[in-house]
Amino acid sequence: MTKPLLALIGTGGTIAGAASAASVSTDYKPASLSLAAVVDTVPELRARYIIEVSQPMQLASYDVRPEHWLDLHAAVMQAVNNPDVVGIVITHGTDTLEETATFLHLSVDSDKPIVVVGAMRPATAYSADGPANLLDACSVAACTGARGRGTLVVMNGRIHSGLWVGKRHVSSVEAFDSPLAGAVGEVADQAVQWFRAVGRAPTVAWQTPTTWPRVDMVVAYAGVDDTALRAFVAAGAQGIVHAGFGNANTPTAYRAFIQSLPAQGVLVARCARFITGSVTRASVYADAQHGILTAGPLPPHKVRIVMLLGLAHGMDGPAIQTWIDQILLAG
Ligand code: SIN
Repeated sequence: MTKPLLALIGTGGTIAGAASAASVSTDYKPASLSLAAVVDTVPELRARYIIEVSQPMQLASYDVRPEHWLDLHAAVMQAVNNPDVVGIVITHGTDTLEETATFLHLSVDSDKPIVVVGAMRPATAYSADGPANLLDACSVAACTGARGRGTLVVMNGRIHSGLWVGKRHVSSVEAFDSPLAGAVGEVADQAVQWFRAVGRAPTVAWQTPTTWPRVDMVVAYAGVDDTALRAFVAAGAQGIVHAGFGNANTPTAYRAFIQSLPAQGVLVARCARFITGSVTRASVYADAQHGILTAGPLPPHKVRIVMLLGLAHGMDGPAIQTWIDQILLAG
């Protein structure tokens, strides 16, 4: 029987990180090894699959910018459009892994399995989790049950939807979870077990943006004032995601200013700074009257990606709100 062809796309991160000694697991340089070298540490990969490696970038994910997503998108689409490729695995740093996974989930219109994977410990550590995570990710990417689920994330034996997953711990190998939504499956010894269905969110009608709009996040805290908010607007922000308190509550100090922004051409989304819970459209904020977006349980940094994609594709506030509602309906 011919082996399945997997496209592996390397971007760097801790999964390709190197420390000064095998006993060191937190003080290291990410993106030190090529993906080809990482693949060579897991001989079982080439025994089970035909592996095609590409490396459009090599960096720590705390340096990933939307510009990098364009190169990644092109690499993913090349694999998507190759009829021989059954699944795609992207190795990535864990710091912004959930943002890249959300970006791909909302911009790649394909049923082909796309799996993003990272590691919490560098490749040189005694406790390196990258080799097992990479093998798990390939098992999921080669699994027909992974088709039509959008972009998935595989970490520490768990399979998550790219839309809902988030990093919750600075160093533990059990760093990722999907609050409210839960994991969609598990993988152990190359066997994939699905827990539940997950719909593929409607994607943007992708046209490679020539520039990205500026979309900033303002985080509320006790005593916050409007300094950052006004600075972002002055810097040309086309969108502001406000990470507020409780039910996305917005301090009175700048509530009127925030409410005035959509009429000035600056989109605003009212989100909560907490990890879980669905923001409701509250009459006290008159969201509809002011054209302010809400996004239920989507966290602020993911709403920012929806805004970036929507604005880059010429969508206005009502169109982005409709898209958000459709994304949430898909689950
Ligand atoms: C990074 O995100 O590149 C560094 C941290 C990690 O990969 O775990």
